[in-house]
Amino acid sequence: MITAGAKPVGAADEAQAARAVQQMFDSIAPRYDLLNHVLSANVDRYWWNKTARQFKAVLADPDAAVLDICCGTGDMTMALLKQRPRGARPIIAADFARGMLSRGAKKFSYEHEDKPYAVALEADALHLPLRTASLDLVVTAFGFRNLANYEAGLREFARVLKPGGQLGILDFAEPGGLLGKAYAVYFRRVLPGIGRLICGKDGPYSYLPASVEKFPPPAQMLEMMRVNGYAECAWKPYTFGIAGLYTGLRSSGE
Ligand SMILES: C[S@@+](CC[C@H](N)C(=O)[O-])C[C@H]1O[C@@H](n2cnc3c(N)ncnc32)[C@H](O)[C@@H]1O
Repeated sequence: MITAGAKPVGAADEAQAARAVQQMFDSIAPRYDLLNHVLSANVDRYWWNKTARQFKAVLADPDAAVLDICCGTGDMTMALLKQRPRGARPIIAADFARGMLSRGAKKFSYEHEDKPYAVALEADALHLPLRTASLDLVVTAFGFRNLANYEAGLREFARVLKPGGQLGILDFAEPGGLLGKAYAVYFRRVLPGIGRLICGKDGPYSYLPASVEKFPPPAQMLEMMRVNGYAECAWKPYTFGIAGLYTGLRSSGE
């Protein structure tokens, strides 16, 4: 069976793919932050902050309802919180891997005076326990690529967004040209080796390059967004196209 999303080795269908992804993230959760910063030389922090700044206007509205889906250990959430005013409505930070989410919650769920904070929600991105047309902004960082069905993910985000609500998907991409070739060597050969060394497991960091390879390129992803409920779809490459941010507005009248 062909899955329309992530497919870790051995997963026969979408349910198995989702379970494998969940177990994998739970298993690497204790080392996730360290690995992330080592493997990206801290560039990930720059990407999270740049993404959050992209949504500055909506985040500045204290009543805006915001979801960070696939929040993991919460660094995207923390970047979003920096753009929230004091006393703002809490961000909903959701993930289906409890090991990742509980680490995130330690960073973002403080309730201290009127400092902006987030609430942790254990939930599957493809079946969000949230009301239809209830959100102003949905953001996901390095999570979308792991969904077992990309189109189902886009439709579910469109369901929970208000018409005109904004979507931001930050994820890896495959740069072209000479840089792309050099990066491919790092990504496919060096990175899995470092990952294995730090977390003592083979699977997760071999899965990473495989999942990026399977992820649709920008033109295809933008078309998928258009047919699944979004207007004004755009892709902005970050750091020579190693990563990039997809943005779109929930179309009205669908
Ligand atoms: C690579 S981590 C990214 C975490 C964080 N957003 C960041 O930027 O570091 C991907 C996260 O997506 C979560 N995830 C993958 N598929 C999911 C799904 N269907 N529902 C909820 N979370 C999911 C995983 O559990 C994992 O925590």
